[in-house]
Amino acid sequence: MATQTFRIWRGQGGQGRFEDYQTEVTDGMVVLDAVHAVQATQATDLACRWNCKAGKCGSCSMEINGRPRLSCMTRMNTYGPDETISVQPLKTFPVIKDLVTDVSWNYAQNKRIPPFKPRPREADGTHRMYQEDVDRVQEFRKCIECYLCQDVCHVLRDRDQKAAFVGPRFMIRLAGLEMHPLDTDDRVPEIRKEFGSSMCNITRCCTEVCPEHIQITDNGIIPLKERVVDRFYDPLTILWRKLFGR
Ligand code: SF4
Ligand code: SF4
Ligand code: FES
Repeated sequence: MATQTFRIWRGQGGQGRFEDYQTEVTDGMVVLDAVHAVQATQATDLACRWNCKAGKCGSCSMEINGRPRLSCMTRMNTYGPDETISVQPLKTFPVIKDLVTDVSWNYAQNKRIPPFKPRPREADGTHRMYQEDVDRVQEFRKCIECYLCQDVCHVLRDRDQKAAFVGPRFMIRLAGLEMHPLDTDDRVPEIRKEFGSSMCNITRCCTEVCPEHIQITDNGIIPLKERVVDRFYDPLTILWRKLFGR
């Protein structure tokens, strides 16, 4: 058993500071365990959000040593025994208290996306799809809404362009709908305009932090950008539309 120092952000109402706590660390502990140990023994008013402790609810997102991570899936042996570990709230969203942020902006984005509009069933009452089409959109359904990708995306984080860009999490939701073999909605115009696909410059930072290993950029955002370019910027498509009106 060893003692380790945690530099944890404390504060609310736009004010705050890091405070150091020392706690014992044992084999198999994750950062969330250490935060709970501090909460139980030294700072009973320390706010942190969590639910499953199994990497599935997406609640325990924090920035640990400057990197957005799920604290319940970040093992203490990731760090050296003498390392001071900083733990702070997601920077992109307003802090409610200590490690808890207000992520309601994300719920509002989710509501803006028009729902799935399936085509009518076949004559025999079934919906039929090719397996490869199903496999393609399945990846996007793995999202646990941890918002680590939203936190790291520089368009939202550094440039604060929340009015112009919906963010990587919702680009993959849009990708899952746009590429769904049964969906009939034409989503390309709003992916370009309302949801701001051109704001993404494919840095892949979102993909790097995704705990579900979703290939957000390569499998989701880039194919959407390609559809936008084909529709609005390809000269042959533009000429075709002018000649035939579609
Ligand atoms: S690839 Fe696009 S969405 Fe992902 S972090 Fe970079 S700019 Fe943001
Ligand atoms: S895409 Fe990945 S990083 Fe983004 S919210 Fe979903 S699970 Fe989290
Ligand atoms: S507590 Fe549910 S993902 Fe960490």
